[in-house]
Amino acid sequence: MLKKVLAIVGFAAAVSAQTPGYPAEDRVPELWQQPDLSFGFYSGYLPIAGTKKQYHYLAALSRNNNATDPVIIWFNGGPGCSSMLGWAQEHGPYAMEDGAQNFTFNDWSWNNNANMFYIESPANVGYSVCEDLAECQWTDANSADDNLAAVLYLLQNKFTALQNNDLYISGESYAGIYVPQLMLRLDMYINETKPTGKWVPNLKGMMVGNGVTNWKYDCTPAYFHMGYYHGLVSDELFNNINQNCDLSYVDAPNPPVLTAQCQTWLNKFNSLVTLVNVYDIFGKCYKNPSIHRKINGMKLQEVSDAAHEMSEVRGLTSDKYTPFLKSKNPLSVVPPCVYAEPILDYFNNQTIKDAMHISPKAAAKWDLCADAFNYTGAQNATQWIYPILKGRYRMLKYSGDADGAVPTFGTQGWINELNWEVKEQWRPYYITNMYGQQVAGYVEVRDGGFTFATVHGAGHMAPQFKRQPTYHAIFNWLNGQPL
Ligand SMILES: *[C@@H]1O[C@H](CO)[C@@H](O)[C@H](O)[C@H]1NC(C)=O
Ligand SMILES: *[C@@H]1O[C@H](CO)[C@@H](O)[C@H](O)[C@H]1NC(C)=O
Ligand SMILES: *[C@@H]1O[C@H](CO)[C@@H](O)[C@H](O)[C@H]1NC(C)=O
Ligand SMILES: *[C@@H]1O[C@H](CO)[C@@H](O)[C@H](O)[C@H]1NC(C)=O
Ligand SMILES: *[C@@H]1O[C@H](CO)[C@@H](O)[C@H](O)[C@H]1NC(C)=O
Ligand SMILES: *[C@@H]1O[C@H](CO)[C@@H](O)[C@H](O)[C@H]1NC(C)=O
Repeated sequence: MLKKVLAIVGFAAAVSAQTPGYPAEDRVPELWQQPDLSFGFYSGYLPIAGTKKQYHYLAALSRNNNATDPVIIWFNGGPGCSSMLGWAQEHGPYAMEDGAQNFTFNDWSWNNNANMFYIESPANVGYSVCEDLAECQWTDANSADDNLAAVLYLLQNKFTALQNNDLYISGESYAGIYVPQLMLRLDMYINETKPTGKWVPNLKGMMVGNGVTNWKYDCTPAYFHMGYYHGLVSDELFNNINQNCDLSYVDAPNPPVLTAQCQTWLNKFNSLVTLVNVYDIFGKCYKNPSIHRKINGMKLQEVSDAAHEMSEVRGLTSDKYTPFLKSKNPLSVVPPCVYAEPILDYFNNQTIKDAMHISPKAAAKWDLCADAFNYTGAQNATQWIYPILKGRYRMLKYSGDADGAVPTFGTQGWINELNWEVKEQWRPYYITNMYGQQVAGYVEVRDGGFTFATVHGAGHMAPQFKRQPTYHAIFNWLNGQPL
């Protein structure tokens, strides 16, 4: 077995030696349940100069043309969640469906036509390395500084062959903060570096899915409204809150103090939706601990709390997945509906860790989202960054319209507040599947290179829940074609 591994590593080195500009030391030639990685799969580390931090990344080079296809950097949100979730469940070459035990070939993998990079950020998330906790006390600003350093290192030291390809920054959920913050820093870096004649990234734009952008509109204020219009809330409760309470900023770092009456009504709303999957209001809610897990022949649900504590965390609460929804009142804890267990098993498997070159300095246990994680967000989020980027970079905001975490309704709120001129009127766009033409979502194009697209019937993880429609939106947009 050991011999076989060595032989494979030797072979990979030989192949990569013929392709300068790619990191031979990071190439992963073989991985369990991923039968064909011949497109070029990589896993390694991006050190942050002057610190002990190292960012873990995965790369799935394009199945089409790795030399010329765009580079897309992907971030999952949290803050604190691993970007490997994007690779494992949403748009990787093989994907684990909710309820499945194994990875299966993903027809709509984004690496069909792009070089995909997944960075686990910030440094104490997933298998990234934070040796000194003093270096890992996060804000929206300092986490973005590290993301800039990591992306520059990736293109200047690891994948120099791709350093002049079109570059797009993308992400989901709390990455609605990460992505514009990183764009701003890349833009600043380009402004400062270009006059010196040194290399600068070929930055083209960004794509954000169901991303937090303005706490005034995003999350609870929007969920309450969309919840009413999706039959989750009574007329009476809707009218009470709508006429008497302002829910703006309730999930912000500094939330307003609601009146006792408004807080009671909000608690009522939260209790009504406790067992609705906030990430896909029509989707299943996977309980924690999971129905699948057995220890010593017993379902984990049936074992005592003490026994449970001795086992690893077997699921995920949405408090961890979208900590900004962890609201300040005890009744509002939303249920842990995310399907997680086989993914946890996979990334914690020693054979997989070895194949992915996971550092011995990384956390012993990989979790979907970091626990005990020190992160302080900014009250003003990222809407203010859009005007700075306007007209100089392309921007796509896509939004699964069945998401209660960062709902479409809130996104429309801040887009309307930006008030950029409508260039192409709101209209449906279509995909064709075995039943013929289907509405995939709605699209509107605004001034300044900004496109807004809904993904109809998709929740928070639109690329996972509606693979073909999201792929269609992303790649038509990337190719400059109408959706
Ligand atoms: C680029 O793609 C080709 C064709 O799929 C593949 O053989 C090659 O290994 C890839 N390059 C690298 C450096 O991974
Ligand atoms: C998952 O894959 C394993 C082998 O890798 C196989 O034994 C098992 O039956 C598969 N499970 C399902 C549900 O397909
Ligand atoms: C989090 O980081 C901030 C800023 O460094 C610090 O003031 C605070 O004490 C830290 N909180 C915890 C719980 O470590
Ligand atoms: C970069 O330069 C452009 C053009 O001069 C300017 O509009 C933009 O604000 C600058 N970006 C930053 C982040 O300062
Ligand atoms: C760990 O991965 C190996 C393949 O690399 C597989 O054979 C084994 O069953 C996995 N172990 C668990 C506990 O999933
Ligand atoms: C938003 O807040 C950050 C600090 O929290 C600050 O650096 C930035 O300038 C603010 N932006 C605006 C437009 O006020």
